[in-house]
Amino acid sequence: MNPIYWDYNATTPLDPHVRQAMEPYLENVWGNPSSVHAVGRRARAALDEFRYRLAGAWKCRPSEVIFTSGGTESNNLAVLGTARLGGAQGRRHLVASPVEHHAVLHALKHLETHEGFTLTLLPVDHHGRISPEAVAQALRPNTALVSIMAANNETGTLQPVAEIGRLCRERGVIFHTDAVQAFGKLPFARIDQFEADLVSVCAHKFHGPKGAGALFIRSPLLPHPTQHGGAQENERRGGTENLTAVAGLVSAFETLVLNPVFPTDSLRGWTERLAQTVTSLPGVERHGCPENRLPNTLAFSVEGTDSISLLANLDLEGVYASSGSACTAGSVEPSHVLRAMGVPESRAKALVRFSLGRESTEEEVAQVERLLPAVIDRCRG
Ligand SMILES: Cc1ncc(COP(=O)(O)O)c(C=O)c1O
Repeated sequence: MNPIYWDYNATTPLDPHVRQAMEPYLENVWGNPSSVHAVGRRARAALDEFRYRLAGAWKCRPSEVIFTSGGTESNNLAVLGTARLGGAQGRRHLVASPVEHHAVLHALKHLETHEGFTLTLLPVDHHGRISPEAVAQALRPNTALVSIMAANNETGTLQPVAEIGRLCRERGVIFHTDAVQAFGKLPFARIDQFEADLVSVCAHKFHGPKGAGALFIRSPLLPHPTQHGGAQENERRGGTENLTAVAGLVSAFETLVLNPVFPTDSLRGWTERLAQTVTSLPGVERHGCPENRLPNTLAFSVEGTDSISLLANLDLEGVYASSGSACTAGSVEPSHVLRAMGVPESRAKALVRFSLGRESTEEEVAQVERLLPAVIDRCRG
């Protein structure tokens, strides 16, 4: 049996076309874009062209594109940089959801614990959705930032970010969305579709390279830099640019986000079918929103066992899945996403996430349906 890779929300394989697009910047165009000589100028011209192309895809200005090292850095720059900008102007209140990725949540908690900011974490319903009304009620005259993710990495639940963005704009509050899981999985027309002032992007989630990300920052907003050094990236991010990573990010965005080969309809159907199968098994519960969701993601918990046993036993069968839980030294941390949704700790420690992708097949779905009951029995036994 061929192994089944169902962890596309964790990462995706590098697309061969993207790899090809990166090669010239490993070999021929290796200069430092900040050098004034011809070798540097060649690298600068390439960097400028990539920024221009990504801005074209996003339908924004090139100066609104900041290249970063990935989703974590984009989120840190957005959250820390915008909060500190607001803080310097007397705005020290922050709003977010408790189901954000740790790259957002931990940055916010740092601001609360060490820099004197007040943090409001909004309630979520049992599907993990927050309501625009809750955001409206949470806003204060000194709110510096609202940060709500577009799509949850653990459950696939989508948030009404455009609506939230519009209401933040009406109230004069800066809005950031971590859209890392949305690109390549949902239709994309323009960066403004999120109605956000800052949008985080991460290339390896859509068949680009690791260590490559970007942040949209709506002009004239200028968050404080989080990485100090040279004047690169509009003085928001010091450090010599990684042109190879930038080439991969832009190529992946153009080929896999603008013209997705992601079989959305099939994946939606297959994950729905899997959801029916798993929830027909005793003690298995589906998590996340069945309607507003990423088409490729299915999250469920299994009573009477834990994520480590489930993932290890799936691995033995050649099925590579994931959980939302951090596994440390044999113990399982319950998923903070499920806990925020009101799921009891015993279940939040027994989460399995199937995230399908471009290479997934119906035969794989049938295979997992066949082997899952025995895997669960073995874990409980
Ligand atoms: C929603 C979300 N935000 C941010 C990140 C962080 O991305 P990276 O680990 O590539 O920096 C991830 C990665 O899983 C994610 O799913």
